[in-house]
Amino acid sequence: MNRNSILKVSDLSVDTINRILNDSKKLFRDFKDWQLSTNRLIANLFFEPSTRTHFSFVSAEHSLGLKVVDFTVERSSIMKGESLYDTVKTFEAIGYDALVIRHPKDNYFDELESINIPIINAGDGSGNHPSQCLLDLYTIKEEFGGFEGLNVMIAGDVRHSRVAHSNKEAMTRLGCTVKFSGPVSFMDSMEEYIEFDEGIKSADVVMMLRIQHERHQERMNLSKDEYLQKYGLTLDRVNNMKKNSIIMHPAPINRGVEMADEVVEHKKSRIFKQMENGVTVRKAMIKMIFNEDFGE
Ligand code: CP
Repeated sequence: MNRNSILKVSDLSVDTINRILNDSKKLFRDFKDWQLSTNRLIANLFFEPSTRTHFSFVSAEHSLGLKVVDFTVERSSIMKGESLYDTVKTFEAIGYDALVIRHPKDNYFDELESINIPIINAGDGSGNHPSQCLLDLYTIKEEFGGFEGLNVMIAGDVRHSRVAHSNKEAMTRLGCTVKFSGPVSFMDSMEEYIEFDEGIKSADVVMMLRIQHERHQERMNLSKDEYLQKYGLTLDRVNNMKKNSIIMHPAPINRGVEMADEVVEHKKSRIFKQMENGVTVRKAMIKMIFNEDFGE
C-alpha cells in the first residue's frame, strides 16, 4: 500500500490530523485558489451511493487542478464479475495517480495491499470514514478552538455507523469525552452509554446519526414518530442543550425521524457548515497524499 494512502483515521498521528486541519484552514482562508504543482489524474470509485462525499471530492479535485474521472459501477467490468482488486489494479496500470474509493465491505482496502498509488478511503461498510471524521473535527475546532475537555454525544445507529467509529477513535485521542446514546440494540457496547436527555443537557456537541436501514438485517419495531419522540432531536430537546453547544449530523438526514424538520437548520445546527467544510478538508487530504506544500 502506498504510504500516503488515507484509509483509517486511527492510522493518522495527532500531528498528522493537526496538519490536515491547519492546511484546511489555510485552504479555506488564504490559499483558496491554490493548485497542485503538476497535472495529475484521479478517479473516484464509488461502489455505494453518495452525494456529499463523492461530489465534495469532485469539487476539491477540480479546484486543485486535477484531471478527474468518475467511475460508474453499472458501466464497468464489475458487471462482468471483475473483482475490486482487478479493477483498482487496472486503474493503476492505465496511469491514474490516485484513487478515492467507497465500498460497502468493511476494510475493503486490506485486499489492495499491493497497490502502489495512493488511495483515500471515502467510507468502508460500517468501518471507517476518515474524510467525514476530519471535516467533523475541523468543524468542531473552528467552533471551540480545540478539543480538550469537550463532551460529545453521538446518538442513533452507532453500531452501523462508520462515522461514529472514526469519530470516537479520533476525538478520544484529541481529548474529548465521547458518549453514545440511542436504542440499546443500536449500540456496540454499553460502556460509554448515556441516557439521551441527560446527554442533551451536558454535551457541547450533539451528533445525530441516521438509521442505516441498508445495513440492517432486522426491522425497527418503532414508527418514525415514536423514534423521534424517544430518541430524536426535537425542538424541546434543543432548548435543553447548553448555551454554546452545537448540533451535527453527517447526513443524509431522515427528517422527522432522528431529527425534527425545524431543527435541521436551527441556529445551533452546523450540518450545512460541515458539508461546506468537507470540500476544504478533502482538498487538504489530497494535498497530503501528493506530498505537496504551499510553496510559502
Ligand atoms: N456523510 C456522507 O458520507 O454522505 P454521503 O453518503 O452522501 O457521501
